[in-house]
Amino acid sequence: MSAMTFSARDIKDVTTTGTECAILPLFHGAKLSGAALKLDKASSGAIKSALALGDFSAKSGEILMLPGVGAIKRILLLGCGDAKKFDRAGARKFCQQVYRALESKQATKAMLHLAGLGLKEKEAVWTLTYLARHLVASSYRYTETVSKPKTPWKLSRLVVNTSGAVSSRAASDALRQGRATGIGVNEARNLANLPGNICTPSYLANHARKLGRNNAKLKVTVVEEKKMRELGMGALLSVSAGSDQPAKLIVMQYKGGKATDKPHVLVGKGITFDTGGISLKPGAKMDEMKFDMGGAASVFGTMRAVADLGLGINVVGIVAAAENMPSGGATKPGDVVTSMSGTTIEVLNTDAEGRLVLCDALTYASRFKPASVIDIATLTGACVVALGSQASGLFANDDTLAEQLLAAGTDTHDRAWRMPLWDEYQGQLKSNFADLANIGGPGGGSITAACFLSRFTEDYTWAHLDIAGSAWDSAPKGATGRPVALLTRYLMDRAEK
Ligand code: BES
Ligand code: MN
Ligand code: ZN
Repeated sequence: MSAMTFSARDIKDVTTTGTECAILPLFHGAKLSGAALKLDKASSGAIKSALALGDFSAKSGEILMLPGVGAIKRILLLGCGDAKKFDRAGARKFCQQVYRALESKQATKAMLHLAGLGLKEKEAVWTLTYLARHLVASSYRYTETVSKPKTPWKLSRLVVNTSGAVSSRAASDALRQGRATGIGVNEARNLANLPGNICTPSYLANHARKLGRNNAKLKVTVVEEKKMRELGMGALLSVSAGSDQPAKLIVMQYKGGKATDKPHVLVGKGITFDTGGISLKPGAKMDEMKFDMGGAASVFGTMRAVADLGLGINVVGIVAAAENMPSGGATKPGDVVTSMSGTTIEVLNTDAEGRLVLCDALTYASRFKPASVIDIATLTGACVVALGSQASGLFANDDTLAEQLLAAGTDTHDRAWRMPLWDEYQGQLKSNFADLANIGGPGGGSITAACFLSRFTEDYTWAHLDIAGSAWDSAPKGATGRPVALLTRYLMDRAEK
């Protein structure tokens, strides 16, 4: 998808190595040094002059494009504000400035003189990881169903001059990780943005098979409805009952670790369109329910990043794909279905379908003897009410796993916030006619949804990410690719252990 390439090296002759755009981060009030000083001299004092004239004072967010010298076509000064206050928020802002400035000039090749940021190795690595991901993800454009898409500008190459600020090896690894994450994010966005008439459960299954063909370490199998029936997946099947599209349980096994290493399992909600079923949703914004496979999309994106990076761990991606439609065959409110685990469920509301497809997928996950299981789902409107779009809701039956995921979210700025899973909430799921009701009443809707799932995850370490608020934006409308960055970081951390 992205041909963008990144590399890092220590460039000695900064004034003669050609580029379309030399990027110089500068702090407010700081003396010129390193590459900035050399480029200033080579351009007969153009940088010092801009500073002296007040055309540029390196305040945070300030940008000045200067004419270049020789093989360097332009010099881009990026203001980073007060050096003492330059934190990760500042570094993110810097990355956004880099993208905007390069885009404004449609520059396809650029060179970043990193030393100007004065970062210690750890922060330099973080910044380069974020930069590569940001540049790749920012270049994403949806073109799939547009008849004459504009050919977008794309940066083709960024060279980072490390000037000893960080080892070229560490810088290259950071760029590689950020790039793979960005490609994974774009993969998730592209799948989620596809309309429901194209992106059906069968489409997702074929997409998985394609990923499998492209990577020798990725084995893909698809459980069809016939097999689901044999396995007793009555909950999953109750959701696709009203649809002409057959449900698919897609299993992607990535084997990068030892055969005996327990896998990390990701389970994605893949409702390719959610009408609500017989408990039909209101019409307003119903189109956005094509994004109800955002959890599945994030599993695809993460599997792609993991496979691209060749991480030395085992990961299983499971996607529970179905379409939730009303028809003569659809499940009705009050129907009781039996899940694969044997637990019977009274379907009081057919719009609470995510937990129905997930519970059987979570039971299925047991067979992999997982190190941990994380499900990702656009599960509840209540989660949007509770957390808005900034944080994904995190629920877990294990504190260590919860902390690892929160840390991965903070690191990538793809943040999650932990919510309670207290036993006291479980009572809301009581049913007079089955072991469990599929809704828990008006209060704490995202929590009771998570409580429902917790009844199927008792024999392993488990976390649930409710991404109903974070998976897409309504204006401008489009998938965000969250939480691919969080998940990829989490898995990279496991691989580094
Ligand atoms: N996919 C929806 C959740 C959703 C709604 C996500 C709006 C993002 C925006 C889910 O299947 C659903 O319909 N949940 C119901 C559950 C309720 C019936 C208990 C909801 O949140 O209203
Ligand atoms: Mn629903
Ligand atoms: Zn749904």
